[in-house]
Amino acid sequence: MKEIHIGLVGSGWMGKAHSSALTDAQMLFGPEYGVAVFEIVADSNLEAARSAQEKIGFKRVSGDWHDVVTDPAVDLVDIATPNAFHYVVAKAALENGKNVYCEKPLSISANESRELAEPAEKKGVVNYVGYNNTMNPANAYVRELVQSGALGKIMRFTGTYDQDQLLDESLPITWRHINKLAGCGALGDLGSHLLSISQFIMGDITAVNAMSTLVFPRRPKAPGSAEMADVENEDIMTFMAEYANGAVGTIACSRVATGRKNYLCYEIQGTRGSVRYDLERMGEVQVYFQSDDERDRGFRTVLLNPRHKGYSAFQPAGGISIAYNDMKILEVHELFAALTQGAPYNCNFEFGYKIDRTVAAVLESARKRSWVTVK
Ligand SMILES: NC(=O)c1ccc[n+]([C@@H]2O[C@H](COP(=O)([O-])OP(=O)(O)OC[C@H]3O[C@@H](n4cnc5c(N)ncnc54)[C@H](O)[C@@H]3O)[C@@H](O)[C@H]2O)c1
Repeated sequence: MKEIHIGLVGSGWMGKAHSSALTDAQMLFGPEYGVAVFEIVADSNLEAARSAQEKIGFKRVSGDWHDVVTDPAVDLVDIATPNAFHYVVAKAALENGKNVYCEKPLSISANESRELAEPAEKKGVVNYVGYNNTMNPANAYVRELVQSGALGKIMRFTGTYDQDQLLDESLPITWRHINKLAGCGALGDLGSHLLSISQFIMGDITAVNAMSTLVFPRRPKAPGSAEMADVENEDIMTFMAEYANGAVGTIACSRVATGRKNYLCYEIQGTRGSVRYDLERMGEVQVYFQSDDERDRGFRTVLLNPRHKGYSAFQPAGGISIAYNDMKILEVHELFAALTQGAPYNCNFEFGYKIDRTVAAVLESARKRSWVTVK
């Protein structure tokens, strides 16, 4: 049994989700994959850090992330801050020889992500980006269908990630609206998840042609305030994509999508079959096979079950709900298997860099209103 001493930076939504996933993963998979020791938590909001310390059981607390990356007891720096701080914290953590678990997106630019991916590889430490949708048993199943050839030659990917969380224009400015903190808007926040699934299942996107819209350009500076501030990034992004495998794509995301709560939905069409998936119906994958008798052809619903990778960690029989946090549990299990047993993992910093290169190309294309090659 190996102890992994955790230093958490950022104790908001994701900081808490990571910590509870670490506890659950140990119970589900056993201590042979490592035991999380909650060593130190830092948050620029010291009150939030203290609250996390109390709830999660961290031994020490700080208002400054430097205390985490330089702490000799810390094995794994877990970064769950707003996007802009991923780079500085991860870079300093790597310089101190730490393993790094970083929330998505890896950074706010392709250049910064390259500057993290290269040293992470050289240092040989575990470098993991939290693109948890790649751990969803449904997406792993779709990947198997695509990569085994069961759907024939893949012709098309079409997908959108829509939420209406920011539809209410009286909601105040947050870090997500400010480029120096978030990098970009809906594309980095939501679209990057869809890009991670697309990358995981379909492989590289080679060129994009995008357009974006900002629906609510000003928001209150604080809840209920009459003082307004400028929103700096897109509410909606939509783009065409060309894939290295010859497929074409249409991809979109919106944070002001009326009626849509967590609508990450995509369809992949191949010459021998198609699949459709919607995260709001997390346990159901729609599949269609051209090989079925013509009389019986039609999309059918496959309910996730123990034959789908990852599912049996939670439920012994098919059709029983799994949920968002279960993806995080599978994610930290994979992370711990890498740390304690050298097991392989998909979402390393190189993967995060690839997503950020695509994000950069989409932003450039929207700005120029023309096709841009993904560098
Ligand atoms: N994988 C997912 O499904 C998913 C979901 C939501 C958010 N995220 C990502 O997680 C990250 C955090 O998002 P969140 O929703 O948890 O945000 P949040 O606002 O709930 O929490 C961020 C925390 O970081 C703290 N913080 C800000 N600046 C800091 C600094 N310099 N040093 C230390 N702490 C600092 C804040 O005080 C806050 O407590 C973002 O990068 C976001 O893109 C991923």
